[in-house]
Order: sequence, then C-alpha cells, then structure tokens
Amino acid sequence: MKQTLNMSLLTLAGALTATVVMLAFSDAAQGNSDAKPSAPGSKAATRTDAQKQIDDGRQIFRFDTFGDEAFWGDTLRLHQAIAGQNNGGVGPGVSPKTALAVGLKVDAEALPAELQQQLRTGGVNLDDPATTVALLRLGAVVGVKGLFDSSGNLKSMGVTCALCHSTVDDSFAQGVGKRLDGWANRDLNIGQIISLAPNLRPYTDLLGVDQATVKKVLASWGPGRFDALLDKDGKAFRPDGGQAGTVIPPAFGLAGINLHTWTGMGSVPYWNAYVAVTEMHGSGTFFDERLNNSARYPVAVKAGTANVRNTPDLVTEKLPALHVYQLSLAAPKPPQGSYDAAAAARGQQVFSGRAKCATCHVPPLYTEPGDNLHAPSEIGIDSFQAERSPTGKYRTAPLAGLWTHQKAGFYHDGRFATLLDVVEHYNRVKQLALTEQDKRDLVEFLKSL
Ligand code: HEC
Ligand code: HEC
Repeated sequence: MKQTLNMSLLTLAGALTATVVMLAFSDAAQGNSDAKPSAPGSKAATRTDAQKQIDDGRQIFRFDTFGDEAFWGDTLRLHQAIAGQNNGGVGPGVSPKTALAVGLKVDAEALPAELQQQLRTGGVNLDDPATTVALLRLGAVVGVKGLFDSSGNLKSMGVTCALCHSTVDDSFAQGVGKRLDGWANRDLNIGQIISLAPNLRPYTDLLGVDQATVKKVLASWGPGRFDALLDKDGKAFRPDGGQAGTVIPPAFGLAGINLHTWTGMGSVPYWNAYVAVTEMHGSGTFFDERLNNSARYPVAVKAGTANVRNTPDLVTEKLPALHVYQLSLAAPKPPQGSYDAAAAARGQQVFSGRAKCATCHVPPLYTEPGDNLHAPSEIGIDSFQAERSPTGKYRTAPLAGLWTHQKAGFYHDGRFATLLDVVEHYNRVKQLALTEQDKRDLVEFLKSL
C-alpha cells in the first residue's frame, strides 16, 4: 500500500504534484492528521488516487495507441491511403466528407477557434484529403492518432479505444462535436476502413486466404460491427452465410457487472488486455490458456495469441487506470421527451412481472449479480457466436443506456432491428402472451433506461 502510494506520488507530474506534496507537508507540520493525504486508506488519499486514475484512464482511453501504429501505419500503411497521393500517400486519399461517411467523428474541441469559424462559414474544403491530414495533425479525429515526421508529413497512424467506443454529440455538425466517451460508435464502418489499407498481408497470411476473400469478410460487417474472434477461430461467416461480426457495445455502465462482452469472455480488464494486444495490435502482454486449443482456435494457436509477451509492454501498466476510467462512466439518462413516461411506468410492471425480464435483467444493473451467462436455448437463439467463445454462452446484456445504441440492431449481431422486434422475439420463444399494449409499454420502458 505504502509503496503504491509512494509510487503514485512519484508519478504525479507537474503543478498538481507540487500542490499535493506541499499540502501533505504543511498538514503534517501543523499536526493536522485528519487531512493528511499521505495516510493510506484515508478519505483524502483515496480520493486523490481515484481522481488520478480517472484522469489517467481518460487519457489512455482517448489517446493511447499502445504502440499499435506499428500495425495500422507501419505495416498496413493505412495512413498512406488516408493521405492520398497528393499528400505523400497512395490513391485518392480520404476526404473529411468520406471520413464522416464511414462513421469517423471529429472532436470540435480540438479545433482552433479560427478553424471552427472557417468550418461554420464553409471556408474549409471538406473534399480534400489534405484537410483530413490537417485534422489528424490537430488530434481531432476521434480514436485515430496521426504520427508526423519533422517536415510535417503523415508518417504513420495508430488507433485508440475511442475509435469504436466514443462518438460526438453532433453539436457542431453531423459527426462533429464534443466527445461522448464510452458511447458505441454504431456509424463506424470498421471493415470498410481496414479494407482501404494498401497492405492486407497480415490478414491474408494469418487467415490463409487471398486478398479478395479478406475484403469480402471486411465488407460483410457493415456499420457498427467488428469481429474480435476472426483472428482466433478463423470463422469469417456464420454457417448460414450471414456476417459474423458483433455490434460494438457501450463502454459505459460497466461498474458492478461481472462478465463482459456478448459472450462473457471475461472481466473488463481481461477484455481490455485482449483488445489492446490482440485486436488493436498494441505492444503488450496477453495470456489466456483457453485460446491454446487448435480445434477451436486454430488461428490463435498459429499466431501464438494465447500467450503474447511483446517488449516493450505498453499495455499492462495502463490496465488499472483504464479499468477505473471505464467504471467511472455511468450510462447516460435518456433525454426528456424521448419516451412516453406513463407507458414506460406500465412497461416496468410488465418487465418485472408477467414478462419475467427482470429475472435475468436484474435492476438496476439489468444483468445478473453473479454468473451472468445463459445457454443460447434460454434466450431462444442459435449457438454460433456463443460457441466461438470459451464460455459457450451468451451474457445477459446490461440495458442501461440502451437508447444510445439503437442503430445497427440489438442482440450480439444486431439481428433485431428494433426494440419491438426484441420484445416480439421473447414473446414468441417464451410464450409470454403479451398484449399489443404490453409490448408497446415494454419498448417505452426499455427506451427509458
Ligand atoms: C475496432 C473497434 C474496437 C476497438 C478499437 C475497441 N473495441 Fe472494445 N469492443 C468492440 C467490439 C466489437 C466489442 C464486442 C466484442 C464481442 O463481444 O464480441 C467490444 C467490447 C468491449 C467491452 C465489453 C463491454 C461489455 O459490456 O461487455 C469493453 C469493456 C471494451 N470493448 C473496451 C475497450 C477498450 C478499453 C478498448 C481499448 C483498449 C477497446 N474496447 C477497443 C470494438 C472495439
Ligand atoms: C434467460 C435470461 C433472459 C431473460 C429472461 C431476458 N433476457 Fe434479455 N437478454 C438476455 C441475454 C443473454 C441477452 C444477450 C443476447 C445476445 O448476446 O445476443 C439479452 C439481450 C437483451 C436485449 C438486447 C440488448 C442489446 O444491447 O442489444 C434486450 C433489449 C433485452 N434482452 C430485453 C429483454 C426483455 C424486454 C426481456 C423480457 C421480455 C428479456 N430481455 C428477458 C437474457 C435474458
């Protein structure tokens, strides 16, 4: 404990450090034991430490690539496709209009006032990839970090957690506004973005297929989806030919919930390490013996994903703050007027009563305290995605903030386009005999969470 605190004091930087340390000394000198921030476990020390973890975690979540530019930029050369041949890259480049169309978001607060003004008055060329490069230079493209050489040319790029798990409030323009951390970016067409890369060799080599096949898989996901198991089990499509990606879930409202991901693969820090190391291709450590199974995870076995020990490890030391930050993100409440309050109140009765939804979606977590997993048959769906997971099950999806992710569908693969479709599904498979009004009320309740 003491060592940790000393460590965290050591790592505190800048003016804040000086203030905290000065306060600690002056309190001690005055014999004011209550206010001693250095007393481990005291209210003040805990608060200071928690605040620092949240602040550090936000930085990591928004801006840390964990060194993954070695993959996205140096290897795939995605930055060259973005810049285009007129800006030192290849091909036509990606204009801001195209970037917004594939769901990338722009952080308006990262734009200098004059640029904001020019944007408002139409003085910025949104058809020119050079503008995209300028936005990257300003760090204004959410979740994408451009790296520049000394003469100002884009030399590489990396991605951060915010790429998929943040959006913006559109307060400036469509796709341009203040950051909303933790919100699932259901506009983002990740597959389309990756397929722009001049070099797809890492995927063709790993999966043992040609480039056309890789592109076909990337095109199959569509907006808001990504397949975080493809590079483990090599299952690019469902047996019925459907796409095999899962919809991006929110990274808010996670506190108090046991297992995470659609199939409950592990805890938040488990998954953070999994993603940072094996999906974003950051440089770090990841261990999961369950993946060391050539029958289920042939691609993971080939790539050695069950036991990754990259040096330097740019991930492990960041897991605590990243975890705390995600736990600090509460699910946002729906805007007033976005649902019918009287219907929602009736829907709540149906949810907890006749429809028995609350047996699994236990309020206020809306998942089970405990082992929150279910056999596919319990929710009346096929086992394809469950069986791709070591758990073989589906995790009871937490429902708070549901209203923020109504695009790209509900359930792990977005199979239900609307909340009414979800309710109809339960009504059918669980033979709930709900009336039309019950169904409408349930939907209003779900929109109110
Ligand atoms: C390329 C898009 C992408 C990036 C980048 C990404 N994620 Fe995710 N994330 C997903 C998808 C898709 C899932 C759902 C995976 C599944 O269940 O199949 C997910 C699931 C999660 C979950 C589980 C949420 C829940 O309720 O179960 C957490 C937590 C999470 N991601 C955090 C992170 C963090 C932290 C980072 C950065 C280290 C990150 N993600 C980077 C796409 C992404
Ligand atoms: C047996 C436990 C169980 C019961 C009962 C149950 N659910 Fe679910 N629910 C789940 C699981 C598991 C998932 C995740 C499905 C998946 O991953 O595809 C889920 C997903 C959902 C989703 C989709 C969430 C999202 O982010 O896409 C909604 C909405 C939902 N349930 C509402 C309800 C309603 C309404 C009822 C009652 C009519 C209900 N559930 C009853 C276990 C249950």
